[in-house]
Amino acid sequence: MDLLPFRNRRQRLLDRMTASGGGVAVIPTAAEHIRNRDTHFPFRADSYFHYLTGFPEPEAVLVLVAGNTPQTLLFCREKDAQKEIWDGFRYGPAAAREIFGFDAAHPIAEFDAKLPDLLADQPALWYSLGFEADWDARIVKAMNAVRAQTRAGKRAPSVTHDVRAVLDAMRLIKDEHEIALLRRAAQIAASAHRRAMRATAPGKYEYEIEAEFLHEFRRQGCQAPAYPPIVASGANACILHYVANDQPLEDGRLLLIDAGCEFAGYASDITRTFPVSGRFTGPQADLYELVLDAQTAAITAVEPGASFLAPHEAALRVLVQGMIDLKLLVGSRDGLIESEAYKRFYMHRTSHWLGLDVHDAGEYRQNDAWTTLQAGMTLTVEPGLYVRAADDVPAAFHDIGIRIEDDVLVTTNGREVLSRDAPKTIAEIEAEMKR
Ligand code: GLY
Ligand code: MN
Ligand code: MN
Repeated sequence: MDLLPFRNRRQRLLDRMTASGGGVAVIPTAAEHIRNRDTHFPFRADSYFHYLTGFPEPEAVLVLVAGNTPQTLLFCREKDAQKEIWDGFRYGPAAAREIFGFDAAHPIAEFDAKLPDLLADQPALWYSLGFEADWDARIVKAMNAVRAQTRAGKRAPSVTHDVRAVLDAMRLIKDEHEIALLRRAAQIAASAHRRAMRATAPGKYEYEIEAEFLHEFRRQGCQAPAYPPIVASGANACILHYVANDQPLEDGRLLLIDAGCEFAGYASDITRTFPVSGRFTGPQADLYELVLDAQTAAITAVEPGASFLAPHEAALRVLVQGMIDLKLLVGSRDGLIESEAYKRFYMHRTSHWLGLDVHDAGEYRQNDAWTTLQAGMTLTVEPGLYVRAADDVPAAFHDIGIRIEDDVLVTTNGREVLSRDAPKTIAEIEAEMKR
């Protein structure tokens, strides 16, 4: 693994802390969680911690000291011959310091004793309160330990900054290392969508198609899906977060699949909707072409200088006009957008940031305006149409749910669709399903 990008990010955070008066940052990794009795959920590093270290083990915390003599410190588990026989390799502080490039590293068991000295006489604490109660308590204890020494001439930090706010702004603009990983995550997920299209047939179960994704993700070196895959056939596609994936695929219905992988920490998030039989019916094609036109308009709206909301607004204009043309809605396009009557059939937004987290860090609004897109930002573009059965809706469209979702990088002169290898036009999908 190339560890220089992580080092560079630590330096950039230190520079920003220094510019804001200095202090000490404390950034722990995630806790391990019990699934049942003595079995754990698979461990996943905290995204902020990973962003700054690349260090994969649980029970670790990064401390950065900004100022005239900046310091980067890692606290982590010690080497332990017995535990390594049972649970596998641990770096231990010495190797972690050497390999990951910290100024110093110490056993995690010494963290609580060392933290008060690290905080003493520092102007500010950079920490995000309220996410992990255990860490909050440890930080408060250390702060109070410094305050207890005021008569010995020590001062506790008088200011607390939310370190995640600074990191959120950094994470919004992806560096080259991140872009390469996002591209790979999208390519792997796109190939899994192609595999799923080829595997789909009437009579199979949704979970059998889910298994194609899990197989392809793992086969290509992904650690996990980026989120629980949604494999929703027929009316299930109208349930936005359907994850039961336990129904049989019926001939003549559509299958909506929202599935992406996590590769080296980075997420992809792709949705494709296609016919179980391999051929779209007329009404299915009418709705599908509408969502595809909306998605094309939205992707075209992604460019540097555009508002974050531009893709959503572009998608809405196409979708709402189409809903009128297909007799799903009655009224004028602008009036229906204004009244939000379209939300009956399109109730979510078109985009979110994508990165280490599938719904990634970063502000959507800044200074009372929607964030302006800049090169290096990555977002999804995912319009949809969800038509539940109802008396006032043309029967041909009942229980059809369609979403088309791609992962898009803002580039200096426009955009790059990272997930472009997943078939999307009707002709591409029908050809893939024939193979
Ligand atoms: N798969 C979650 C989303 O599309 O936002
Ligand atoms: Mn998404
Ligand atoms: Mn999705």
